[in-house]
Amino acid sequence: MTKSFIIAIDGPAASGKGTLARRLAAHFGLHHLDSGLGYRAVAKALLDAGLPLDDTAAAEEAARALDIGLLDRRLLSAHGVGEAASTVAVIPAVRRALVEKQREFAGMPPGVVLDGRDIGTVVCPEADVKLYVTASASVRAERRWREILAGGGDAEYSEILADVERRDARDMGRTDSPLRPAADAHLLDTTEMDIETAFLAARSLVEKALAARNGI
Ligand code: C5P
Repeated sequence: MTKSFIIAIDGPAASGKGTLARRLAAHFGLHHLDSGLGYRAVAKALLDAGLPLDDTAAAEEAARALDIGLLDRRLLSAHGVGEAASTVAVIPAVRRALVEKQREFAGMPPGVVLDGRDIGTVVCPEADVKLYVTASASVRAERRWREILAGGGDAEYSEILADVERRDARDMGRTDSPLRPAADAHLLDTTEMDIETAFLAARSLVEKALAARNGI
């Protein structure tokens, strides 16, 4: 049986990696997994149960009980849930439980796009294409802020920027699977790039990898 084709996309919050992942999956007919939803679902389970985010036993249990293919983005998209997710994401037992499920998903034929923080470095180091999508913290905070306002919410830009910086520090500074580009990742800086340009650049990298794999 041929090995499934894997595209790994990593990057910080609001870098545009999720949009890029969805577009690549639709274009190439691949399954898509937003791995951040798993961490968000674990955080939300603890918040809903009124438990502290450092309750490692409850967090691990919630992670083991998840079906990561069935999570609803809308229910987990709140900015505060993302913030709480980065707190439970430092717990090694939570990561082990979710990574096991993510690897299982990655084997789905004909292939997958996974996006997150540690896909190219830890979850699928053998991925066919690795992208690291980034942008300046101020541009990412502005995107998130506009998204919240467009959805009818209320937010202060300065608070969103502080959240983004705090989340970057937590994601890049943790001991287990910190956010960093894999040595063989292609860097895409979307600070001054619109999503269409980023998509075209990524599409051409994927086309090259597919051609190489098919020996063309
Ligand atoms: O990508 P998203 O903002 O939904 O991720 C929420 C949080 O989940 C991140 O800030 C990060 O702490 C954690 N996460 C992770 N590893 C992944 C995906 C997300 O640690 N592969």
